[in-house]
Amino acid sequence: MRSSDVLVVGGGIIGLVTAWRAAQRGLRTAVVDPDPGGGAARVAAGMLAAVTELHYGEETLLGLNLASAARYPAFVTELEEAAGHDVGYRACGTLAVALDADDRAHMRELHALQTRCGLVSEWLSGRECRRLEPMLAPGVRGGLRVDGDHQVDPRRLAAALLRACERAGVLFHRTLAERLTVVRDRARGAVLTDGQELTSGLVVLAAGSLSGRLAGVPEEVLPPVRPVKGQVLRLRVPPAYAPFLSRTVRAVVRGSHVYLVPRENGELVVGATSEELGWDTTVTAGGVYELLRDAHELVPGITELPLTETRAGLRPGSPDNAPLLGPTDLPGLHLATGHYRNGVLLTPVTGDAMAEALTTGALPDEARPFTPRRFSPVRQEQPA
Ligand code: GLY
Repeated sequence: MRSSDVLVVGGGIIGLVTAWRAAQRGLRTAVVDPDPGGGAARVAAGMLAAVTELHYGEETLLGLNLASAARYPAFVTELEEAAGHDVGYRACGTLAVALDADDRAHMRELHALQTRCGLVSEWLSGRECRRLEPMLAPGVRGGLRVDGDHQVDPRRLAAALLRACERAGVLFHRTLAERLTVVRDRARGAVLTDGQELTSGLVVLAAGSLSGRLAGVPEEVLPPVRPVKGQVLRLRVPPAYAPFLSRTVRAVVRGSHVYLVPRENGELVVGATSEELGWDTTVTAGGVYELLRDAHELVPGITELPLTETRAGLRPGSPDNAPLLGPTDLPGLHLATGHYRNGVLLTPVTGDAMAEALTTGALPDEARPFTPRRFSPVRQEQPA
């Protein structure tokens, strides 16, 4: 199939959910990616942390994050049914703790912000935190119990989306897109590195941090995304140590952030660095050291666990830390990128928003603030 209704450039979880939802709406859909189901989701921990990852100035994004978190249970049920396997969704809640007095002040500020935003989180003393999670260090000064922030396994999620796409008839071109084709001021498809020329009614650029690098995209609609490196560790909790942690534990440890995400299958994910180093994905001794140092201060018993994997990925950062969704100023070209720290969380709502945009040309209300047009160059008024 050289011709489709929708051509999605990028087969990470955002590209896949877009393709799946588009195919469900009856659109003939193709995806271009040398390794569909890969990308940042292969590294991500999978926290669904709308409340515990709240930041000042991101209240609009919070609305989208909460909408997506609320859709997760139904989304998981539907996807598991469509793919025929589970995605490791765990409604375990999160505990966010502080180690020293400054960390506690930081956590109190977060609690105040959460409360102002109408979110549910409960302040606990250090002792109450340790009662919930006995492996926590005695030095923990207090923390926030957030029962609504859950987790999913991003690798299983990606595999399920890939399977669901295949079952829904999405066609995969396992190579790279080299250039967007623009004919008479309209996106018309893409030329692939193997020389194939694909034509399509609509093109969705969903290539994560690489989305700003596709040749042929006119400068004024090129998404302003950049790579933000995150190093992540994976450990294994042997059955004799289980349950090591019963929920996601996040912390501020002497000013630096760390999180521990325990999966039901015994995997424990520890993350993450946040580094503006361009396209570098080297796992460094310094990155691993800092994560293990902070995780050890938080949960001393972690040094007993086998370290099974170290990896670095690239978050697609955007200028306001929020995604770019839907039509651009170039007819026929849509974006689904820039999800930064929230790609896994925003997968359900992105799929719904993109399906709506691809079928009607307009984003649903909750996604409208995330139009790529918010970054369009300001048109200068011509003097009279
Ligand atoms: N949301 C977790 C991270 O980006 O590290």
